[in-house]
Amino acid sequence: MTDALHIHLAGIPMATPVVLLSGCIGFGEELAALEGFDFTAVGALCLKGTTLEPRLGNPPPRLAETPSGLLNAIGLQNPGARFVVEHILPRMAHLPTRLIANIAGSTVAEYAAVARLFDDSPVDGIEINISCPNVKEGGAAFGADPGSAAQVVAAVRLATTKPLITKLSPNVTDIRPIARAVIEAGTDALSAINTLMGMAVDITSRRPLLGNGQGGLSGSAIKPVALLKVWQLYQVAAPHGIPIIGQGGIATPEDAIEFLLVGANAVGIGTALFRNPLISGEIASGIAHYLVNQNVGHVAALTGTLHSA
Ligand SMILES: Cc1cc2nc3c(=O)[nH]c(=O)nc-3n(C[C@H](O)[C@H](O)[C@H](O)COP(=O)(O)O)c2cc1C
Repeated sequence: MTDALHIHLAGIPMATPVVLLSGCIGFGEELAALEGFDFTAVGALCLKGTTLEPRLGNPPPRLAETPSGLLNAIGLQNPGARFVVEHILPRMAHLPTRLIANIAGSTVAEYAAVARLFDDSPVDGIEINISCPNVKEGGAAFGADPGSAAQVVAAVRLATTKPLITKLSPNVTDIRPIARAVIEAGTDALSAINTLMGMAVDITSRRPLLGNGQGGLSGSAIKPVALLKVWQLYQVAAPHGIPIIGQGGIATPEDAIEFLLVGANAVGIGTALFRNPLISGEIASGIAHYLVNQNVGHVAALTGTLHSA
């Protein structure tokens, strides 16, 4: 990939600003087995949300398609942090991309304990998920309140020297006070948005379609909401030099460029991978073409360059 796409995000060198999102690639192993998958087009892989103890996740059904979106209620199914560090990461460390752990917990102490385990591992950074809407323990309660969000980030900050990315929820009245609180507590970057809470109904059984009753909406349907949140976050984060991984419904290079213009430094691809697991390469080269066409020398020069309406 061209040097024009090379970025440093919170100190993590990335070959491109294209990041693959947590929950949409497992721990990356399936990608390694995929013919034609180009890891050099990917800046980093965000691994599946990991808790201290293994979790089986929510009862099925866990997925429901919506018009231009996807509802999921996986429930943070994962084998536990110790297993990830001891058995999965050693198989992944050779990949020519960066690895970012994604951590969750039901208490501040659990977040810190998971971060401590990843601190002693080859991951390049830790994403703190304080925004999973699908389980009580998923942190959404922490992510909805500036004080609790700051407590989690401060505790994780003490537990690790790895770069910290805090993943914010759109399910709040105003995302900006939460961002200010986690920046003050020591996060190195922000990631937004996680899924929007929603539900679907089976009219034959007259029951919710998802086993969990409700789920998180992702995919193209949420892109306009995500763009606005990233634009709002940029106003708060840029003065502190805090970068943003913009995400929510990105499926084309044009979508990714919109996020860069409103203030993202990197772009995350999640749900679009289920339709086309090779989309990351297309998005990275599409951004590179745009830079050439617009006569812009480096992708970092696009961030936050939206003109006023
Ligand atoms: C099936 C599925 C599982 C997810 N699991 C996680 C997770 O474990 N941790 C997390 O922080 N986000 C998780 N997410 C949220 C995504 O990482 C991403 O923030 C969100 O889906 C918005 O991006 P998208 O519209 O490109 O998918 C999950 C999303 C989906 C669709």
